[in-house]
Amino acid sequence: MNETTPVSDGYSNSADAWRRGPARIYDRLAIALVERIEPVRGKTALDVGAGTGAASAALMLAGARVVAVDVAPGMLEYERSKRPPCVVADAVALPFRDGAFEIVVAAFSLNHLTQPALGLREAARVTRRGGIVVASAYAADDDHPAKQAAHSVAAELGWRPATWWRRLREDAMPKLATVERAVRETLAAGISATVEPRQVRFPELDAPSLIEWRLGMADLAPFVASLEPAARVELLSRAVEQMGSDYPMLVRRMIVITAAV
Ligand SMILES: C[S@@+](CC[C@H](N)C(=O)[O-])C[C@H]1O[C@@H](n2cnc3c(N)ncnc32)[C@H](O)[C@@H]1O
Repeated sequence: MNETTPVSDGYSNSADAWRRGPARIYDRLAIALVERIEPVRGKTALDVGAGTGAASAALMLAGARVVAVDVAPGMLEYERSKRPPCVVADAVALPFRDGAFEIVVAAFSLNHLTQPALGLREAARVTRRGGIVVASAYAADDDHPAKQAAHSVAAELGWRPATWWRRLREDAMPKLATVERAVRETLAAGISATVEPRQVRFPELDAPSLIEWRLGMADLAPFVASLEPAARVELLSRAVEQMGSDYPMLVRRMIVITAAV
């Protein structure tokens, strides 16, 4: 078993839950990333860590010819017939020649690497000169009470975080979670990039939608899927109740890396 196997299994078991909850957030975040790239129409694009296809869809809508890569086959299989061609591969060893793409987007995937510089370098390698790499990661201050509510009610019902998820949060995600740290990784990758904090607001999401977001994430989704329907309903309603009515609007805070290659 290599380092990515638990991540691959964790996400592969979460594809349906991801589309029910997190996707409504990640689809918008992907659009915000792709809007930074101009022009897109007619370009070749790679979606690294494509998941269920948020950035692929945004790129295709903007007119790119897309290929998707993810380490989790279950994520790539989701609605396969509506998706672009795909390859199961690790972001640090992409199965493409140098300069194969004009655009590379890595939406919330390189922050799963303990050495994100390796993923950034690999993304730049497969990008043609004159092309662009755009990568996003969760900012250190990206938080919402929905997360705490979902986790604490799930824990009361028997959920325990998987080791791979704890390692991800401790050893990988912090590496790109601030502008300073992300700049350090771009320097280690040997690429020249702009690194900025960005925010996307979700005023339309009500309490059940916010809890569904958290229940569909790969840390909780397999546990939620293991529950009987009545227990799932109980988890959702208790978490909504715990969050209360005075919760803030969800504002996703991310770090965006943009590199002209
Ligand atoms: C938070 S999800 C984001 C999915 C999608 N990009 C989106 O924005 O909806 C992270 C994705 O990165 C993938 N991933 C994690 N580590 C990876 C690696 N080393 N190589 C390729 N994909 C990876 C996961 O399997 C998962 O699908």
